[in-house]
Amino acid sequence: MSEPQSSFRVEMTINGRAKHATIEARKSLGDFLRDDAGYTGVHLGCEHGVCGACTVIVDGKAVRSCLMLAVQADGCEVTTVEGVAQADGTFHPVQAALREEHALQCGFCTPGIVCTLTALTKGDQKPTEEQMLAAMSGHICRCTGYQGIRRAITRLAAGEAA
Ligand code: FES
Ligand code: FES
Repeated sequence: MSEPQSSFRVEMTINGRAKHATIEARKSLGDFLRDDAGYTGVHLGCEHGVCGACTVIVDGKAVRSCLMLAVQADGCEVTTVEGVAQADGTFHPVQAALREEHALQCGFCTPGIVCTLTALTKGDQKPTEEQMLAAMSGHICRCTGYQGIRRAITRLAAGEAA
């Protein structure tokens, strides 16, 4: 009997750039993005789907990159926190709101929160404050007490972010 295939050739777009790679079948998307593709803004905390720090955007949806295999992203468009701002460095409104409201301290949780809120507010989607707060139930922040994050969400819901 032949051995099962352990690596696969995949193609995906990461932050607008095409990426081709041969990836071990067991490698998580988070490990691939950090270790192989160099996007170290993807933070791995719990590595079992609880803390939300590893959240990235795959085909417009926020996903936990520790729970998704990299090979499952074959053909997908992936955005990490490095790809959220505009090309000239102008902050995305989510980033601007978090900065304005001092919604981070160590910043470990922040890339995941940015990606979740960015996916929710994509295009002309206008999530309510309650919907954005509910999405935060998937993120653990050990520093801020969440109050700055809540204020940033209030600002976003009111359309006040720069
Ligand atoms: S590292 Fe993925 S949810 Fe914690
Ligand atoms: S700012 Fe430190 S974990 Fe959230």
